Amino acid sequence: MINRRKFLLDSSSAFALTQLPSNAYANNGIKHYRLVAKAAEHTFYSSAQKSKLSLYNQQSPGPTIHAVKDDILEVEFVNLLDEPTTIHWHGIRNLNAMDGVPDLTQPAVEPGETFTYRFPLKDTGLFWYHAHTQAWKQVTKGLYGPLLVRDVNDETHHRDVLLVLDDWLLDENEQLQLDSLGSLHDWSHGGRHGNFLTVNGHAKPDIAVPSNGQCKLRFLSAANARIMKFELNEKIPMKIIAIDGSPCAPFTVERLTVAPAQRYDILVEDSSQLEELIEVSTSERLTSARFATTKNTQEKYDTNVLHQPWYPLPQTTQAKIIDIHMQGGAMGNLTSAVFEGERKSLRDLAQNDAKLWAFNGEIGGYGLTLADIELGNTVILRVWNDTRWRHAMHLHGQHFWVNSREFGDQNRQILRDTYLMQPSEKVDLVFIADNPGLWLFHCHMLEHHAAGMGGVIHIS
Ligand code: C2O
Ligand code: CU
Repeated sequence: MINRRKFLLDSSSAFALTQLPSNAYANNGIKHYRLVAKAAEHTFYSSAQKSKLSLYNQQSPGPTIHAVKDDILEVEFVNLLDEPTTIHWHGIRNLNAMDGVPDLTQPAVEPGETFTYRFPLKDTGLFWYHAHTQAWKQVTKGLYGPLLVRDVNDETHHRDVLLVLDDWLLDENEQLQLDSLGSLHDWSHGGRHGNFLTVNGHAKPDIAVPSNGQCKLRFLSAANARIMKFELNEKIPMKIIAIDGSPCAPFTVERLTVAPAQRYDILVEDSSQLEELIEVSTSERLTSARFATTKNTQEKYDTNVLHQPWYPLPQTTQAKIIDIHMQGGAMGNLTSAVFEGERKSLRDLAQNDAKLWAFNGEIGGYGLTLADIELGNTVILRVWNDTRWRHAMHLHGQHFWVNSREFGDQNRQILRDTYLMQPSEKVDLVFIADNPGLWLFHCHMLEHHAAGMGGVIHIS
C-alpha cells in the first residue's frame, strides 16, 4: 500500500502545478533554475531496490521547469557526471549557441564544469530537455525532464496533468541493463526497447486528476526507441488539442501513438471517468498508471476556444527542396556508404564503426551538412524513409509542417518537431528557415542517431 506521503511524492508533477505560488510567474521575467547532472539512486516503485541512474537534481524525471511565454529561461547547469555532457532543449526555437549539441553548437561541458543556458521562450506548450552527448547512454540513464511554457493568461493550467513516459531495460534487481547498451542488434533494428514502463518516474503510479469536469492530459515520451500506444480505460475518446507543444485543430482518437520525443495534449471531457492509462503496443494490455481523483477545481477549459497552431503553413511555391534519402539498418538496401570521406561496405561499417544508417549515401553525424540554406527561405525537406524501420525524425531549432499520416486514414496538416515515419514513406517537412545556425536533423530513436541517422542543416 502506498501511504499518503508516498502518494504525494509519486504525483509530484501533478501537484506541483497546483502548489506553485502564482508569483512564480512574472511575465517577461527571467526564470532561474539550477540543474545538476549526477549519478543518483531512484526507486521505481515502493518495494523496489534502489536503481542506479544518472539524473538531474536526483529526480526522475528531472524537475519540471515552469515558465511563461516570453520569459528568459536561465539554467545554471553543473556537470557532476564522470563524463562530458550537454543539455538540448527539445522543441524550443532556440538560439543556436544554446541548443546543446556538443562540438556543433557548444563544447561539451566537462566533468566538474558549469555552463549557463540562457534563452527566450517564444512559444507556449510542453517541451522537454535532455542530455545530447551520447544520448543513447545518457538519456537511457535518466537525464531528461519536462519544460512547460504557459501563456500568462492561462488560468486553466491547474487542471493539467503531466504524464512523462519512459521504458527502461532493467534486470531482476531493478538495475539498468548496461551490458546491452550499444548492442548492434538494437542499433540496426528498432532501437533499444525497455521491459519496464514508468509514468512520471514510477511504475503504475496513482496520478491525481480533478474529480470532475474537463482536464488536460499532457503526454511526453522520453523513451529511447519504443513507440508507445495508449488507451484510457476502455477507449474513452481522446481529443488531441496540441501536438509537440503547438495547439492544433482538435480531433479525436481512441488510441494515442506516442513516438520517442513526441508530445500530445489530450482534452478529456469528464475526468471522473478516468480510471486507467493502458499501454497497448504489445500483445499485452499493460496498465501503466491509475487515475486518482482529487478535489474539484473551479477553472474550466473553454472548449469554444479556437485552437490555432503557433503559425500558419507557409506558401511553398518558391520553396527550396532538400532531398533526404534514408537508407540502412537490418533488411535494408544499403550495401555501402561513405564514412569520414571513405566508401566502406555496410558490413565493415557495422563491425568496425558501429555505423548502420545513411542519408544520401553518407553515414550521418555532426560533420555531415545536408543543406546550406539562406536565412528566410522556405524549405521543404523531402524525406524518403527507404528502410524497413520506423523513424521519429526530429529537426532542431524550428518546427515543420507535415501532411501527417500518423492518425489513421485521414492525412492531417500538423505543425510539429518530431514526425514518426513509416517504412517506405515519403514526406515533405516544410518550414521557413528563420532561425540562423547549425541545426541537427536526426532520428530520435537514439540508437539510430548514434549509428549514423543524423545530419546538419545550416541556415545563414
Ligand atoms: Cu530531442 Cu537532437 O534531440
Ligand atoms: Cu530511426
